[in-house]
Amino acid sequence: MDHAQRANAVMSRIHELACISEDPHCVTRTFGSSAFISGCSKVLKWMQEAGLQARIDNIGNVRGRWPSTQPNARTLVIASHIDTVKNAGKFDGPLGVIMGLDLITHLQQERINLPFNIELIAFSDEEGVRFHTTYLGSTAITGKFNSALLDKTDSAGITLRNAIKTMGGDVDQLAADAIPEDEWLGYYEIHIEQGPVLYEQHIPVAVVQGIAGQHRIRVRFHGMGGHAGTVPMEMRKDALCAAAEFILAVERFGLEHNNDLVATVGTVDVKDAASNVIPGEVTCTLDVRSTDQVLLKKARRYLKDIASQICAERQLTADWDIIQKAKPVECDTALSHLLAQGITAAGYNVKNLVSGAGHDAVMVGAVAPVCMLFVRCYKGISHHPEENVEVADIAAAIQVSAHFIHRLAEVYKKR
Ligand code: GLV
Ligand code: MN
Ligand code: MN
Repeated sequence: MDHAQRANAVMSRIHELACISEDPHCVTRTFGSSAFISGCSKVLKWMQEAGLQARIDNIGNVRGRWPSTQPNARTLVIASHIDTVKNAGKFDGPLGVIMGLDLITHLQQERINLPFNIELIAFSDEEGVRFHTTYLGSTAITGKFNSALLDKTDSAGITLRNAIKTMGGDVDQLAADAIPEDEWLGYYEIHIEQGPVLYEQHIPVAVVQGIAGQHRIRVRFHGMGGHAGTVPMEMRKDALCAAAEFILAVERFGLEHNNDLVATVGTVDVKDAASNVIPGEVTCTLDVRSTDQVLLKKARRYLKDIASQICAERQLTADWDIIQKAKPVECDTALSHLLAQGITAAGYNVKNLVSGAGHDAVMVGAVAPVCMLFVRCYKGISHHPEENVEVADIAAAIQVSAHFIHRLAEVYKKR
């Protein structure tokens, strides 16, 4: 099979996986849902058919191992995620998993003896849609899973503990799923860029230099509910109006720091909402990202103060819960250099990019050297049904990845 045929096969699997969704009208596969569980079974079957030692671990990661014949070999993890946002695109996550499987299958057909094991992982929760906290799958394999999260609840009141049980996982065995630190060789992830740079500059792939840090916060405004027809305007403590002011302040702050930071309120939940009820309690999510760790911290403090000021002026109160703090991560120079050589060998110019989107590489970066390849996507659209990738760009990424693995094997053999 040539690269174009392989890319077409990858594309048809991406479409096949996209058909497994919570909603028949779009792609939605959030952590632990029945569609998610079916998606995992499909990927498990593909891994088994490829002859990998495949299993689903306790946090719901689908894992397939291709062991090296060399004793005490280290492990290169190739991974991405198969959970999605709501009304998602088809490529964010699955591209890296399905391309990883293609890569391994063709390395096997070459009968190559790699001096390291390869473990392909389809991470279970990169998006953090259900429990607001991201990277559940990758924290488990790095041994950094925070068991305090097990009592967190989703919007239906189901705990993470119960969600794991429903998937067949054993919460007492999460630690046993970690790859020991001394076994890691490195980590490679292929992912769509999710931004417009490659599309605008007509470049198929890029090396990721680093990934922005990300803070996720839940802000809950407590006012006073009441009758929308009887309570005079100046006597109200409308939690939604306070949230609205806060949202605009977040946008202003983001605009003021446009080159260095982005800030988003992505969800607003009005408790017991009705057109004839004054909103008494409103919960928002806040997502702030930057490659500058100091600025991230400053943003969090500033926006917390803003929320307090708004509440003081309106005589409300607010709870401020930090759900997640992920530091910015730099990709490994040596692995990224090999990846850049792979791009050159495939006949393309090397482009470096920083990722504003979060990736499981952030968590893995705490225990192992990581590198990532970005693939151009249509107009940079992502987290949206119009997300799209050209078959030719998948073919380019296949070529680059094959060169990268061969180079890594060469370098590693010499050690
Ligand atoms: C995941 O796509 C994220 O960046 O939040
Ligand atoms: Mn992703
Ligand atoms: Mn995503």
